[in-house]
Amino acid sequence: NGKYLVTLIPGDGIGPEVSNSVKEIYRAANVPIEWEEVNVTPTIKNGKQVIPEESVVSIKKNTIALKGPLATPIGKGHVSLNLTLRRTFSLFANVRPCRSIAGYQTPYDNVDTVLIRENTEGEYSGIEHEVVDGVVQSIKLITLEASERVARYAFHHAEQNGRNKVTAVHKANIMKMSDGMFLHACRQVAKEYPHIEYDEDLLDRACLRIVQDPAPYADRVMVMPNLYGDILSDMCAGLIGGLGLTPSGNIGKDASLFEAVHGTAPAIAGKDMANPTALLLSSIMMLRHMSLFEHADKIESGVFSAIAAGERTGDLGGDLGTKAFTESIIKRLGQSPK
Ligand code: IPM
Ligand code: MN
Repeated sequence: NGKYLVTLIPGDGIGPEVSNSVKEIYRAANVPIEWEEVNVTPTIKNGKQVIPEESVVSIKKNTIALKGPLATPIGKGHVSLNLTLRRTFSLFANVRPCRSIAGYQTPYDNVDTVLIRENTEGEYSGIEHEVVDGVVQSIKLITLEASERVARYAFHHAEQNGRNKVTAVHKANIMKMSDGMFLHACRQVAKEYPHIEYDEDLLDRACLRIVQDPAPYADRVMVMPNLYGDILSDMCAGLIGGLGLTPSGNIGKDASLFEAVHGTAPAIAGKDMANPTALLLSSIMMLRHMSLFEHADKIESGVFSAIAAGERTGDLGGDLGTKAFTESIIKRLGQSPK
């Protein structure tokens, strides 16, 4: 029927409500997407966590997925579902843009950072053991292959998005071998992109400088190992108003998954109070990834116009419910924010 099939993982807690908001706005904007909803609640098989086969099949087939927040199951054998998904589909680059939102006041009005996080290894390798009583080791695994792969994606992303610089963020002064190799990979890839400037910054120094003045970061893409990206992306999100406002995309060779980074907010789940903005913005990244640029622009302008007009959910100090906020976006689709 001329429509793209996209896997939708509504998620837990506020997930179904924010997913509904996306579905309604897409319907109103005539986005040529048909959702295939799947459940990813894991089970333990032979001591190993597995997600339902139908969800794996769906994502493999459709190659694009949108995902709401998932509760991390508690108990032995369970690892974070988010990580399971990233690993299952080798989603090697986690793209996290952060831009100040007009009309939503924070101490900063000029944030425009793009952070790309290696998404499959580092401290997230999941390799941990007790050496002797009272001594544990968690392995930070860095491979040349994964480092080159994410570096190449960072340069590609910079090129595609009109950013003329890539900054590798690291602690190679301390982790001379692991971060040293990550930097080596970035330097090699930089040679393939002579028209894009390349430099390096220490993680701690980058944090200090971004909070002092984010403006110089608006021209570039930052690329870094997994854990640094986890932390630095939350810091950047804090500058513009928090995780309720920031999108993310997990990019792989054979599949990509776009997700809101915030949690399931069980305290407000089912109460028509959740802010759908982060999932909406993630879905807009997804539309651009699918080259559905006009639909992306139309929905983005609706979201930003609504916020600029003071239409807000409770987390942003307003009194609108999820549904009313969704309606106010639908009314403003295609309008430019004042
Ligand atoms: C994120 C989250 C995840 C992470 C958690 C939920 C496993 O904080 O996407 O940044 O640590 O990567
Ligand atoms: Mn995080």
